[in-house]
Amino acid sequence: MNIILLGPPGAGKGTQAKMMIEKYQIPQISTGDMLRAALKERTPLGLKAKEYMDKGALVPDEVVIGLIQERLKEPDCSKGYILDGFPRTVAQAEALDKVLAGLGSKIDHVISIEVDKSDLLKRLTGRRTCRQCGAMYHVIFTPSLNKDLCDKCQGELYQRDDDNEDTVRNRLEVYDAQTFPLIQYYQQKGLVRKIEGVGSIQQIFENIVKTLA
Ligand code: AP5
Ligand code: MG
Repeated sequence: MNIILLGPPGAGKGTQAKMMIEKYQIPQISTGDMLRAALKERTPLGLKAKEYMDKGALVPDEVVIGLIQERLKEPDCSKGYILDGFPRTVAQAEALDKVLAGLGSKIDHVISIEVDKSDLLKRLTGRRTCRQCGAMYHVIFTPSLNKDLCDKCQGELYQRDDDNEDTVRNRLEVYDAQTFPLIQYYQQKGLVRKIEGVGSIQQIFENIVKTLA
């Protein structure tokens, strides 16, 4: 099952992808996580990407397309994968189609998670992530038991550099201008399944599972 999770920043792509990994035993491929990992290693790619990410702008298409092209060749992708945060422009979607055609593969489902803009700002400015295991929390909606520590692994919780209000506003504008058109792109291919992204995280997950059944 090759799945794309589409949705604005804060829609819950990462949250749902982590639950889908367990259920379907396929990897989550998040270009955002890959870029943040490159930055942590202080690679030239990571340092360059940070300049864009800190502004809430998109990293150039050729950079992320190159990353995905390599990642999809890894053996763990053979049974399927969940693309989270890629593609994000029509050029990326077209490049993905080409890469997949070359591999004799295709996208099976595009899950579009829909959430109002007013909710997204609240979700992102309150998000906390575990440095160690990547688990996600929210200071109001899903707080950890101990304010600064992860419930699962006791790792330190941190706030992403791009989760401040100004950068979030910019990310939402970039989404409208560059990523929203992808819904139509995939609708034309008959692949889009819309999911209401407001409500309990578990209920949203169950709706995704139903949609994929
Ligand atoms: P990326 O890391 O992909 O960020 P994003 O798309 O902006 O999305 P987020 O990760 O912020 O949101 P999410 O939908 O995963 O929500 P989450 O589950 O965490 O990209 C970051 C940057 O990298 C980009 O700006 C760009 O610069 C660069 N980049 C990445 N990919 C690129 C590409 N393909 N091309 C070019 N550049 C690229 O949830 C958010 C919060 O809400 C959490 O606190 C969570 O606990 C909470 N929450 C989740 N679900 C619910 C719910 N149902 N109710 C209440 N709260 C909830
Ligand atoms: Mg995410």
